[in-house]
Amino acid sequence: MTENIRHFLDLDVLDAALLRHLVDEARQRKQARQGCSQGAPDDDAPLAGQVLALLFEKPSTRTRVSFDVGMRQLGGETLILNRDVTQLGRGETVSDTARVLSRYVDALMVRSDSHDTLLELAAAARIPVVNGLTDHSHPCQLLADILTFEEHKGPITNRSVAWIGDGNNVATSWIHAAVKFDFELRLACPAGLKPEAKVLDWARREGGHILLTEDPQEAAVHADCIVTDTWVSMGDNDAEQRMEMLAPYQVDAALMTLADHQAIFMHCLPAHRGEEVTAEVLDGSQSVVMDGAENRLHAQKSILVWCLSGWDK
Ligand code: CP
Ligand code: NVA
Repeated sequence: MTENIRHFLDLDVLDAALLRHLVDEARQRKQARQGCSQGAPDDDAPLAGQVLALLFEKPSTRTRVSFDVGMRQLGGETLILNRDVTQLGRGETVSDTARVLSRYVDALMVRSDSHDTLLELAAAARIPVVNGLTDHSHPCQLLADILTFEEHKGPITNRSVAWIGDGNNVATSWIHAAVKFDFELRLACPAGLKPEAKVLDWARREGGHILLTEDPQEAAVHADCIVTDTWVSMGDNDAEQRMEMLAPYQVDAALMTLADHQAIFMHCLPAHRGEEVTAEVLDGSQSVVMDGAENRLHAQKSILVWCLSGWDK
């Protein structure tokens, strides 16, 4: 039955207690692997005998490698499909693709140009589907980011995070996370690049602590974390206009000074030094971006275990 399939599509449709469990499990699995080589399986190898397919419509470094290595550490196997080497690239329907893949593999991770494609795949699939980024959201990134924040700063509940820049797909998942993990999120975005209105409306209905401003300084003051992302996401075709709108939103040392003196800097990567963030901040002592990248591996393993082997609350 489709409704019993454990898809991981977006944080807003998942239970807060489950999301907390996934972060905690990721932390425990990470700790249990201290000193192991990357190729060594976890002791319990919970996904032995299972196959994960990774379908990409856009480029990726972190998502591709961390899902691949993570699935192997869980005892399972992977295969990587780029859209253009499948019949999807020649017009086979999304629905048929989902139904066919459901006969060969146990779970499907998708990085898609369009969120609608992800939803269509999930609706037709008979296996769990995981969102590995769409134009709308990036929920796997956020589980890793919560883990990273908490490793450096302790529990995120009631803390404050400032998002500076484009109100893009990663910003959407930060808004979802702010509601589910109960922290304050201040977003500083230019008027033309605000987060999706329906996402902000949802957060307000849910009682989320969300501030939206056009002033980066207002967002940054006393924040526990400053976070940003590229000014030109994959699929954006208005780079010049974006650069102009976002120029006042660069995260630099002066902006970091406004935050709490022990604030951390996060970025999902890939980064563009001299655009959304200066090299001084990205490579500086407050930056935890490499821990964030590593934590994609641990967070996604926890997601895969939930999708494929169940979770009894
Ligand atoms: N942060 C992230 O998703 O990186 P990739 O595009 O390299 O997968
Ligand atoms: N917002 C960026 C995130 C990349 C991981 C993009 O969609 O390209």
